[in-house]
Amino acid sequence: MNIILLGPPGAGKGTQSARLVERHGMRQLSTGDMLRAAVKAQTPVGIKAKAVMDRGELVSDEIVSELIDAELAAMPASTGAIFDGYPRTAAQAEMLDMLLAKHGRKLDRVIELAVDEDALVDRITGRFTCARCGAGYHDRYKQPKAAGVCDECGSTEFKRRPDDNEETVRTRMQEYRAKTAPILPGYEARGIVAQVDGMASIDDVAEAIDDLLA
Ligand code: AP5
Repeated sequence: MNIILLGPPGAGKGTQSARLVERHGMRQLSTGDMLRAAVKAQTPVGIKAKAVMDRGELVSDEIVSELIDAELAAMPASTGAIFDGYPRTAAQAEMLDMLLAKHGRKLDRVIELAVDEDALVDRITGRFTCARCGAGYHDRYKQPKAAGVCDECGSTEFKRRPDDNEETVRTRMQEYRAKTAPILPGYEARGIVAQVDGMASIDDVAEAIDDLLA
């Protein structure tokens, strides 16, 4: 299966992608993660993207579509893809259709995580991850069991994303409303959209998504 997880920043796309990878052996294609890796490696794409990401604006359609193209080319045809944070504009939605056709795939489902935007600012500004293994935590909702020590790998180093401050989050939300939400009706017209309550618990959201894919 090839699915899109669609929702504003903090809706839980990354969290639910990780669950799908675990449970269904699908591959998560997160353009945000790919761009952050490029920024860290200081590749030409990363150098170009950094300032745009720090402002909370969108990187160019061509750059992100090339990243997706390369990932699809490297994946076995039998492995399902979860598009996390892509497409984000009408042009990217068109490019995704072309890329799926090029790689002999089709889009099965668009899962919209429906959320309350005010709660998302709190979710995002409180999140941090283990600097070594990437396990995710939250200041209020998910602290490590032993203070300052990662539950998964024992590391004591943690990090926060530079774009996870309130001002940038508001810009990211605005970008979502202006450029990403308008692509939904096109998918609705194709009859492939399903909505899930993204304000439910992480386990309940995962179960609702599993039911849709069964
Ligand atoms: P990206 O990395 O895609 O960020 P985003 O869309 O803003 O999404 P997030 O990663 O912030 O949120 P999420 O929905 O994955 O939530 P998560 O599961 O982490 O993009 C970053 C930037 O890169 C963009 O601003 C742009 O500049 C650029 N970019 C990326 N893709 C692009 C593209 N296609 N085109 C152009 N530019 C692009 O959850 C958030 C927190 O909430 C976590 O702490 C989690 O534990 C918690 N949580 C999750 N679910 C629940 C729940 N049900 N209940 C309680 N807590 C929950």
